Amino acid sequence: MTEKDLNTYIQQIPKAELHLHIEGTLEPELIFKLAERNKVKLKYKSINDLSKAYNFSNLQSFLDIYYEGTSVLITEEDFYDLTWAYLEKRYSENVIHSEIFFDPQTHTDRGISFKTVINGISKALHDGQKKLSLSSKLIMCFLRHLDEESAFKTLDQSIPFKDKIIGIGLDSSELGNPPSKFVNVFKKATSLGYLPVAHAGEEGPPAYIWEAIDKLKVLRIDHGVRAIEDKRLLEELIKRKIPLTVCPLSNIKLKVFKTMNEHNLKKLMDVGVMVTVNSDDPSYFGGYINENYLEVSKAFNLEKKDIYKLAKNSFEASFLSSSEKQKMIELLDNFCNKIVTVVD
Ligand code: ADE
Ligand code: ZN
Repeated sequence: MTEKDLNTYIQQIPKAELHLHIEGTLEPELIFKLAERNKVKLKYKSINDLSKAYNFSNLQSFLDIYYEGTSVLITEEDFYDLTWAYLEKRYSENVIHSEIFFDPQTHTDRGISFKTVINGISKALHDGQKKLSLSSKLIMCFLRHLDEESAFKTLDQSIPFKDKIIGIGLDSSELGNPPSKFVNVFKKATSLGYLPVAHAGEEGPPAYIWEAIDKLKVLRIDHGVRAIEDKRLLEELIKRKIPLTVCPLSNIKLKVFKTMNEHNLKKLMDVGVMVTVNSDDPSYFGGYINENYLEVSKAFNLEKKDIYKLAKNSFEASFLSSSEKQKMIELLDNFCNKIVTVVD
């Protein structure tokens, strides 16, 4: 496949994204625009200055800048504009379904109400469905560097908006904050009907992935690339059909792997783990979902059938109903059949 063919195929193939932090789509241009609108003083003098700081040594060095960026988000309109910008981008990349993380505590701890955050995001998602036919779901993440009590408070705040939120997640600084710290709040949230996922095995050891599946009973693992170090864990992920939402460019930017050639995505696929490709925090990591597909395709010489498999996994691993999954996979199959016919 020529590079042009590969680009076109990735661009046009219908796909879902299951690991995307809405705050991680905040582009430097929008940070400066919102800072001006809200009279927020930034540490950086220019867009260029800020972009230059996106040189990370690990997860924590990224999180420090990422949390600072969110300080410009104040009003419902800001959260709407942030989300709408992502939806327009997604539309151009043919991401027909997306399960979007948001971090309520990052905002409520700055005095912004839960209602402001969720209403701004949800209104944009509603318009995205109406105007662009984009399907979306929202997952509320608890910040794992904070205590479980704060997560419980956030869970309580979410209850009036429960119809807008499909699941709960766990993110932020992984090392030293194992999933077991949040067993009680996950138990309560799942009893209320929230579907559980958690970041695990990004920087943390396989033991954290075990905790996420056995103690938090998660339905997907976000990242999970360190599962490769534990053969029994790999077998368990395969047996229980627990998908991994892998974020290749994020892993390179945060130095989980030195180069894309050293990434283990293809190995995980080859042993039979259900792997999906995602962008995590695209405005910070140098690419949205299509760049992630493109970089792994180039690094591992992926063929169309591999890319198809990744796209199909993205729907199968989603929280869509089985009839919605079926419809989207049909769209995917129609696209692939058309491509084959044209080539023939
Ligand atoms: N929050 C935003 N991006 C994250 C990541 N890659 N890992 C943990 N927490 C995050
Ligand atoms: Zn993430």
